[in-house]
Amino acid sequence: MNNLIPAINGSVEYGDGEFKLPETFLCGKKFPDVDKVFEQRLKKSGISGIVGGQLQIRYELADMKNGAYRIDITKDGISVCAFDKSGYSNALATLFQLLVFGNGKVRAQKIVDSPRFKHRAIMLDCCRHFIAFEEIKKIIEQCSLVKINYLHLHISDDQGYRLESTVFPELNQISSYRSISEQDFAVKNGSYKAGAKYGGYYTKAQIKELIDFASTRGIEIIPDLDMPGHSSAILAAFPEFTCSKKPLNVKSTFGVHNRLWCAGNENSFKFIEKLIDEICETFLSKYFYLGGDEVPKTEWKKCPECGRLIESLGNADRLQAMFINRIAQHIIEKGKIPVAWNDSGATGELSDGIVMQYWMEMGVKESYVAPQITGDRKFILSNMNQFYCDYSYAEIPLRATLMYEPNIKDAPIPEENVLGIEAPLWTEWLPENGDIEKMLYPRLLAVAECGWTKEKNTEEFLNRAKSFVCDDRVSYLNPMPWDEATVSGEKALTMIAEKMIAQSRNYHSMTENGDGEAGAVEAIGVEGAEQVDSLQQTIDFMTEKMKAAYSKEDIFKVLKIMGEIKNK
Ligand code: ACM
Ligand code: ZN
Repeated sequence: MNNLIPAINGSVEYGDGEFKLPETFLCGKKFPDVDKVFEQRLKKSGISGIVGGQLQIRYELADMKNGAYRIDITKDGISVCAFDKSGYSNALATLFQLLVFGNGKVRAQKIVDSPRFKHRAIMLDCCRHFIAFEEIKKIIEQCSLVKINYLHLHISDDQGYRLESTVFPELNQISSYRSISEQDFAVKNGSYKAGAKYGGYYTKAQIKELIDFASTRGIEIIPDLDMPGHSSAILAAFPEFTCSKKPLNVKSTFGVHNRLWCAGNENSFKFIEKLIDEICETFLSKYFYLGGDEVPKTEWKKCPECGRLIESLGNADRLQAMFINRIAQHIIEKGKIPVAWNDSGATGELSDGIVMQYWMEMGVKESYVAPQITGDRKFILSNMNQFYCDYSYAEIPLRATLMYEPNIKDAPIPEENVLGIEAPLWTEWLPENGDIEKMLYPRLLAVAECGWTKEKNTEEFLNRAKSFVCDDRVSYLNPMPWDEATVSGEKALTMIAEKMIAQSRNYHSMTENGDGEAGAVEAIGVEGAEQVDSLQQTIDFMTEKMKAAYSKEDIFKVLKIMGEIKNK
């Protein structure tokens, strides 16, 4: 059995003899850039080849879509069949792993491999905390080795706008920087003082470099301009596009903020469309994410222009759908496919061409999901209770991520409409790049296997993942130490209980915050959110999350430990 991650989703047929890595590698003509990556990885791994030998991989075009490939390894050489660069890159990722685990020797074998899902993505939030350019490259390199094929780059949110803009320079002068708040862990760990200026943005040249770097590794980078909420950073530079037109700051606190794009102002749409045009000059991806999540409607309801639209449309959710549909149409006219978070379409009136990215449990509000499962709408599945990388490994154990079956409980999506999976990494509480690596890795291995391989087995995966993570030759990211990434039993339950107590206090302070912020609860549409008891809210939230990987008894134990902590 090969020790690969992700495991082969096809067949392996062993032959006689073994292939021994030669001393030199010759790039082929078809994908020399992919070959170069393979060569660099070999050099970095330190495995040595047979003196005097020379390897050139034979390539043959085959009708194998979505990154599928075949490899034929004999004692005399290696041939790869694939349709395109992504298939070839996946084949070389497999070959590299085989060579590393065999210390330069691989048993003769024929591998036929293809992904379970064609969309296998992670999302990086570089807004809440800025992620260094070199760090993104490092993450891409790790993703490529485990056959992730999309990187969703969240470049706009309340806390920062992260792309160079020559059309609207204010987006860099104002929107790319915020002040550090007391809420920031960066203050708590001493790396920043409260009030310090914080932020940055990627130049267009850097983004082009990232796109090339990723493309050579079989990965497409997709931009994400979140709207009409989560837009305070842009609106701080252009408050005339909010309903009240009052000045606002780039947010230095997290949670959900009330200020939105005014949906009754034509100039809002003109501005956003111009900005999308500029972003599309740099990002050439097939998809474009436009957000649509967590939109509190308070400002719209107070605004005369938005108010008129709400009245004529019937309710504020419809105004949200109209907003998203209008921007989506512009994206479609640019030849791209728009993707929106599932809570953007509570009324079920989103255009068919919009791909839904599902993050929320049905229990929160059924209307956020069920009405959209119509026609042939496509879905990307990112259930927060199994696939969010910013939750601790105690809350979302590796087994829960691995065993995620991407569909929607109680409202099944036809299998052909499931494009695949995506694991978002939100960075509110991850100020340092090192923290990001630990939350992403080894979780990324479970995400990759969930997206690629149909037959999943927790125990067998954990054995393979452990040896993978502990091997520097295939691990480019610094992982969460294995014991902590697989924390279980009483220790995990106590960690969850401690976090829930801290979180219930945090919810409380968010809902009571008078800084124009909505409580997270209100934004996701729970009626009378201000009255919801924050501890009860936290318990409900935790119970839902824990169901994916824990028994009822375990959930009960967490509640008991929470009680003990509160009574201390
Ligand atoms: C989300 O987590 N607000 C998509
Ligand atoms: Zn308005």
